[in-house]
Amino acid sequence: MNRTARPRLLDLYCCQGGATKGYQDAGYIVTGVDLAPQPRYVKLNPDFHQGDAIEFLLAHGSEFDFIHASPPCQLDSDCQRIMDREHPDLIGPTREALEAVGVPYVIENVAGARAKLRQPVELCGLMFGLTRTYRHRYFETGGGWSLPQPHHPRHEAPQAKMGRRPQPGEFIQAVGNFSGVAIVRDEWGVGWMNRDGIREAIPPAYAEWIGGQFLAAAGEVAA
Ligand SMILES: C[S@@+](CC[C@H](N)C(=O)[O-])C[C@H]1O[C@@H](n2cnc3c(N)ncnc32)[C@H](O)[C@@H]1O
Repeated sequence: MNRTARPRLLDLYCCQGGATKGYQDAGYIVTGVDLAPQPRYVKLNPDFHQGDAIEFLLAHGSEFDFIHASPPCQLDSDCQRIMDREHPDLIGPTREALEAVGVPYVIENVAGARAKLRQPVELCGLMFGLTRTYRHRYFETGGGWSLPQPHHPRHEAPQAKMGRRPQPGEFIQAVGNFSGVAIVRDEWGVGWMNRDGIREAIPPAYAEWIGGQFLAAAGEVAA
């Protein structure tokens, strides 16, 4: 890694940019790639390329210090809905391309795809000071580095019922056509996103932590 410049991060399958925002907050210059047009992503980060993630990765991946990938998975019904068709499972092909490129990476996915990830670390909003978010997501690392598993605090509060606006004392459940977009925008700091983007996203706090862990592992900053 060039120690005089800001680190460069490639965000594959970037959607509206939940992961990108976290890496920006951790100090990275980010390039996003998504098959669909993402006008809301461009508001966050103008360096956006519309196209196939694996094609872009194979052509340009070696220009980056670190790569984040959130490939859709057949078991992730939200991803299928946003593209309005069945998705092929892209976890395996994405990993294969990442290994060919040889840059350190993280692959993120949902609980339904956990078994397809290699030794994933589980993240929960409670690990990052979020006050109304559990939103478990799973992260496989590769390319010569790994993440520690943070302590997982006990869940004390109930989640809002699927699709319902969270009532006082309830945690957010941002899936499907959920109500309470303004509550999530405020909780996660994603004011530029709409419902479609939020239901696909990881809270930026997760990516900010991962980005910091990677820089620490690379000897760039203290953990
Ligand atoms: C789960 S979302 C990613 C969410 C993002 N990581 C975030 O935190 O906001 C998956 C995205 O993959 C995109 N996608 C699906 N197939 C793709 C492909 N072949 N190449 C690039 N993007 C693709 C979809 O359009 C969707 O925006």
